[in-house]
Amino acid sequence: MPEAFVAPGQAAKPTGQYCDMVLKAQQEPEAFWLQQAQRLTWQTFPQAASRSDFTGDVVIDWYAGGVLNASESCLDRHLQTQPDKTALIWEGQDEGQREVLSYRVLHERVCRLANVMRRLGVKKGDCVAIHLPMVAEGVIAMLACARIGAIHVVLFGGFSPEGLAERLSDSGAVLVLTADVARRGEKRIPSKETMDAALQRCADASRVKHVLVVPVTGADVPMQAERDLNYAHEVAQELPTCPAEPMQAQDPLFLLYTSGSTGRPKGLVHGTGGYMVWASFTHAVVFDHKPTDIFWCTADISWITGHTYVVYGPLANGGTIMVYEGLPSWPQPGRWWDVIDRNGVTVFYTSPTVVRAAMREDEAVVRSRSLESLRILGTVGEPISPEAWHWFHDEVGKGRCAVVDTWWQTETGGVMITAAANSVVPRAGAASLPLPGVEATLLDTQSAVVQGAGEGLLCMARSWPGQAQSIWQDHARFKQTYFTTCPGYYFTGDGARREADGYYWITGRVDDVVNVSGHRIGTAEIEDAIATDHEVVESAAVGIPHDLKGQGLVVFVVPREQGVFHPDAVNRAVAAGVGRYAVPEKIYVVSDLPKTRSGKIVRRLLRKIAAHDLDGLGDLSTLADPDIVDELIALVKAQA
Ligand code: WTA
Repeated sequence: MPEAFVAPGQAAKPTGQYCDMVLKAQQEPEAFWLQQAQRLTWQTFPQAASRSDFTGDVVIDWYAGGVLNASESCLDRHLQTQPDKTALIWEGQDEGQREVLSYRVLHERVCRLANVMRRLGVKKGDCVAIHLPMVAEGVIAMLACARIGAIHVVLFGGFSPEGLAERLSDSGAVLVLTADVARRGEKRIPSKETMDAALQRCADASRVKHVLVVPVTGADVPMQAERDLNYAHEVAQELPTCPAEPMQAQDPLFLLYTSGSTGRPKGLVHGTGGYMVWASFTHAVVFDHKPTDIFWCTADISWITGHTYVVYGPLANGGTIMVYEGLPSWPQPGRWWDVIDRNGVTVFYTSPTVVRAAMREDEAVVRSRSLESLRILGTVGEPISPEAWHWFHDEVGKGRCAVVDTWWQTETGGVMITAAANSVVPRAGAASLPLPGVEATLLDTQSAVVQGAGEGLLCMARSWPGQAQSIWQDHARFKQTYFTTCPGYYFTGDGARREADGYYWITGRVDDVVNVSGHRIGTAEIEDAIATDHEVVESAAVGIPHDLKGQGLVVFVVPREQGVFHPDAVNRAVAAGVGRYAVPEKIYVVSDLPKTRSGKIVRRLLRKIAAHDLDGLGDLSTLADPDIVDELIALVKAQA
């Protein structure tokens, strides 16, 4: 790799170590990744690093022969060296709610819950669904699953009963953890009620035997005799120690559902050994981890970011994590800045959406806070504009913190492309450089490798430890989704541009996935939900640029009967089928959609029309009915 790829001489804290890692990972990957495996505690150290293969049936196989338990790497080993160090600081959204858990206490709580799960019959390889807001019990539940070898499936609090039911059935979860009620600013979210409705929906297919209800607000909720149990009562009966289940490196640690361009959400499977090495390695390298750090990743635990950088990365590295339950600006603007100041947060990892929202507040909000404990800032989930990057750097970081934009995906397990803090010179708005061992490649539409500066489909030429192994019970779909577009490569679904010196700029999804405030939404899921309304003939969902959310969702819908159909029906169908978070920004009721003569919807046109980007609509003569375009343009203009 040429010198110019990293410029340690210009870095805030020059280090040649990063360069050495890049070279070693490239020249001797087996040795490099076996060396990195030493970051974890193993019951049996692996014999090999990667035996992965992107061709044929596609095998993602890391650390064969290795035996470990993720919870031992996150807890037990720290008990020997730093039992009283703070592992987790939790703050609730109401004033005065705060809890500080040492490694000793976190370990005890995890063990108690692990014992409850074992008593309830959960076995190694069973799936356990976690449906909790940002409370310490969410973290505890994930680690307790890991402890007994159960595969956790964390489900977003914003899913509708239908969305939950689908994932419960697909995963075959045997146990569910939910909250009585969750808080979100002034709103109360009826978690238990929603879960009950979900379980009713999948009654036949469901293998769920018990529901453990965490008393978050203490509200009275209906409890079904025998099935539903109070979390607090159950854990109180158990011992604070629990033997950790020995796991093969390739045994699944968790499933996480995410949206793709087609079909239903897919449960990506992450193995134990490779994922844990990647979580630990990337957390240390990207955020320049120091033992004194108080690391706050603001992501919900139902997101991959919450898995890797709320829980597994920082805890594997013996760090202190901050978990805050509430919204950035509730009950007043600047709430998150107060959380930083009160707790001495040193690393703050959030989303560009949060940064954009904060930029819109009065300057005095951020300027009235000290924020002097911060040393590193990070963003993830969507591109950050140079303007937002600079605001984050200047106003939140007060010009003295490293800012890392991190590009990665549910599928990659952890950060892949970034300007690692204090090792790589950042460039505002650019994802920057692939981490050591990440062989990012751009391919053109003919699958030819783009050399030097250029643009193309972002692919990976070689496996890395954090790579997902498969799609739950559908390896064929895994292969089809990620390894057929560019044979021999992992295809990310994103496009990117590369500068001559190797810096990457992500240009966005090249498939039909829309990214609303970092929520990955498959347009097919939205259209499927809308199709449940019998008054609808067909619909098409597309993403448009949105100032605050990055992208907004727009739906074109063709009703059976014009004039009678009310667009609210679309909102209801999406809220019921997917969740309120996916309700579209704008709905256009139209008489038809632009289609090719073979009947394929021309989404490119819809995207441009919806975004009022009417130049260069291209050759319309290939459409089955070119006149429809004028109708759509007129409608969009009229409703602007
Ligand atoms: C997008 C989130 C630009 C991208 C960890 C990717 C980004 C998808 C960035 C994955 C970034 C994520 N810059 N785009 N820094 N980070 N994306 O699976 O399109 O929820 O494919 O994982 O988000 O979303 P996911």
